[in-house]
Amino acid sequence: MALDQRPGCPVHADFDPLSDEFLADPYAVMARLPLAETPVFYAPAIDYYVVTRHADIEAVLLDPGTYSAGAAQLPLVTLEPEATEILLAGGHRPQPSMVSLDPPAHTRLRRPTSRAFTPRRVTEMEPRVRATVAELLDAIDPSAPFDLVEALTFPLPATVVFSFMGVPEEDYVQLKDWCGHRATLAWGRPPAAEQVEHATSMAAYRRYLRELVARKAGERADDFTSALLAIHDEDPDALSQEEIASILFSLSFAGHETTNYLIGNMIRRLLEEPARWDAVVAADSLIPGVVEETLRHDTSVPAWRRITKRPVTLGGVDIPEGAKLFLWLAAAGRDASVFPDPDAFDPHRANAKRHLAFGKGIHFCIGSALGKLEAQLALEELTRRFPGLRLVEEQKLEFHPNISFRGPLALWVRA
Ligand code: HEM
Repeated sequence: MALDQRPGCPVHADFDPLSDEFLADPYAVMARLPLAETPVFYAPAIDYYVVTRHADIEAVLLDPGTYSAGAAQLPLVTLEPEATEILLAGGHRPQPSMVSLDPPAHTRLRRPTSRAFTPRRVTEMEPRVRATVAELLDAIDPSAPFDLVEALTFPLPATVVFSFMGVPEEDYVQLKDWCGHRATLAWGRPPAAEQVEHATSMAAYRRYLRELVARKAGERADDFTSALLAIHDEDPDALSQEEIASILFSLSFAGHETTNYLIGNMIRRLLEEPARWDAVVAADSLIPGVVEETLRHDTSVPAWRRITKRPVTLGGVDIPEGAKLFLWLAAAGRDASVFPDPDAFDPHRANAKRHLAFGKGIHFCIGSALGKLEAQLALEELTRRFPGLRLVEEQKLEFHPNISFRGPLALWVRA
């Protein structure tokens, strides 16, 4: 659409969340943008309307009748026909899973997922999470600098969510690899030459999950997949095995990179100013506040997406039907009208929990309690074992080139 067809809508032509500058430090870009005057603007680089205020984003998330979740996993680039065919043949539809469905299709999957993802099941994960943290930290040689991402933040949530689902341990590595392809395909800008490879991985990932469900149907255990199969047994038409595989597709990814990056961002923000780390070492009662503040200050899911189902006015801007919205959750976390002195990292902040890092409304993150538990237990054990932990100086942090999942790809520390 030409720019003159957006009367009254501010345009920031240089806003590109996949640029090197943005990937390295989106908060520096945020600080330079005139967001007070242009809380909603159009970004031609991605063909999205960017929504930045806490109140506007919250209103969008709470109104699924007006704002469809259909864009949540939409590739940012038009895919090559060959890649699209591979995806469709593999059962990866344009609205590939729960998070991008609207009611009633969403409700059909969300209801059994909530029934199987019980608080009891999460609480019962605690010893398993603790044991996994301990096992991973035992393997570190603290006499030399080590990469905390490789040692802990990447393997921990993968191990936790895959074991929660009942995936055999020998398949974890393969599943982690497929998740990487998925991030690039749905939230990155893969060149045409790479798309077929990503699409082929996606089809294999889908096939694997279908086979897992079929296998588990005959060998039940005390895991989430078996709990979903028990719901399927009650009424096979209400929840098919194909739908169970789709739920697993949601969970395997959502429960993994989000939490890896959350823990990475948290440790980074604490160690950037060693006094923050030392304060947590001195008082582990700060830990829950640190986790919430990280979700507000430097969330691992900085953007989420919606599409308008009818013309709307948002933040004073008229937006047509069918427009794609880039909900900048990271900007909502820095909205000074909700969070005074928003750039300060303050574990004592009374209202940090008002962040929108887990979304809001009918799609509110199902795994929020599990993700926070993992982050808390990781920090507890790290501060206990390595009270003198520091960042290795002069390291340049790198980030995966996608719009929705952000955390350091490596974080070098010394004990
Ligand atoms: C800890 C860091 C995490 C963050 C920041 C995060 C963030 C989010 C966000 C922003 C959404 C979309 C909300 C919306 O559209 O309104 C979401 C949905 C979802 N999350 Fe999380 N998540 C995290 C961890 C997890 C974990 C550990 C799991 C599972 C084990 C999980 C499972 C899901 C699922 C299944 C949905 C889709 C829910 C639906 O569409 O109804 N997430 N999450």
